[in-house]
Amino acid sequence: MGFDVGAVRAAYPALADGYAYLDGAAGTQVPAPVIEAIAEAYRGGLGNTGGVFPASDRSQELTDRCRAAIAALTGGQPGGVILGPSMTALTYRLAGTLARDWRPGDEVVVSRLDHDANVRPWVQAAERAGATVRWAEPDPATGELPAAQYAGLLSPRTRLVAVTAASNIIGTRPDVPAITAAARAAGALSYVDGVHATPHGPTDMVALGADFYATSAYKWSGPHLAAVVADPGLLATLHPDKLRPAPAEAPDCFERGTLPFADLAGAAAAVEHLASLAGPAGGSSLRERVLAAMAEVAAYEQDLFAVLLGGLDALEHVTTYGKAASRTATAFFNVEGWTPQEVAEHLARHRVNVWNGDNYAWELAGVLGIRESGSAVRAGLVHYNDRSDVDRLLTAVADLA
Ligand SMILES: Cc1ncc(COP(=O)(O)O)c(C=O)c1O
Repeated sequence: MGFDVGAVRAAYPALADGYAYLDGAAGTQVPAPVIEAIAEAYRGGLGNTGGVFPASDRSQELTDRCRAAIAALTGGQPGGVILGPSMTALTYRLAGTLARDWRPGDEVVVSRLDHDANVRPWVQAAERAGATVRWAEPDPATGELPAAQYAGLLSPRTRLVAVTAASNIIGTRPDVPAITAAARAAGALSYVDGVHATPHGPTDMVALGADFYATSAYKWSGPHLAAVVADPGLLATLHPDKLRPAPAEAPDCFERGTLPFADLAGAAAAVEHLASLAGPAGGSSLRERVLAAMAEVAAYEQDLFAVLLGGLDALEHVTTYGKAASRTATAFFNVEGWTPQEVAEHLARHRVNVWNGDNYAWELAGVLGIRESGSAVRAGLVHYNDRSDVDRLLTAVADLA
């Protein structure tokens, strides 16, 4: 059976307001089972973990369930799932921890395709350690990030390679396995930003070769929290700053303070919700079902994206950015004679939610040569968008001719 977008949309109460939510790349709406799981967690009574009473046990169960669900989503291990408030906060945390061992003359490699959350924490940590930053460059014409350039960027002094699994503005999916393999051969760790990639298809962080894989639940129908997933054995070798009485073992030692337990219930429910999209044919384990579902999501999104991109490219007064061979369903465009802000405002009047600006892909907006002029407009599809969302956007953009 094909992907039933009508049934999917019915699960998301917020979509009933009649807006075309093409802002999913900035954060998705939340389906009823996630809202219910969060409410249920609070209704059931929560306590801090480590206590001797049932409410404390319930919080621990929610934490375990969340780690297991995020491991199922990413192909990691539950014991390697570090939970935290946002990818940005967690990346600063990991950068501070990893950079403790960096010495002057060490090197880190970042890319100008990346969201700044996978750039600046490494650049700043490198500056403090006296390490050198090397830059991987996307091709401005295609938006590709050629993996071959990494051979020239890596050296025996490279400590870390940070790269995105997908650009949050032009959707480019670089050849991450090739990049991480080159990093490993040079003796460096890899930190893969999966925040934009995770909601758009199956994720296998082992196949990606990622030593660290970052993802944010609010991009895949969950609440506002994030995770960095790594091999538990690798985490055991690291020593993050922590409070004296706080747990010494990973992943807990990376999680500063008390976790948002009810939101953890929501994140687990979001993975279960995604897995449920596969229907009964999906398989038995949560991992199998979520992989099957995300493959269906990817196929559905790509079909709809062809309509969106084809429609935009057919308009003479529109310029689109990015032509990568493999990309998520994320359009980035400008309209002649209108600023990105004006286009977004026009679309909002037509009840279409889009973002304008660099969306924190600050380096990439510079590479594309549009940062100073307000960058562009982003219309990102997720699995709950449908043809009417796309048609409404295209009609409203056509009106700006
Ligand atoms: C690709 C990418 N990386 C990182 C981030 C930052 O995520 P967070 O808001 O969880 O810090 C975003 C947020 O938009 C993103 O799209």
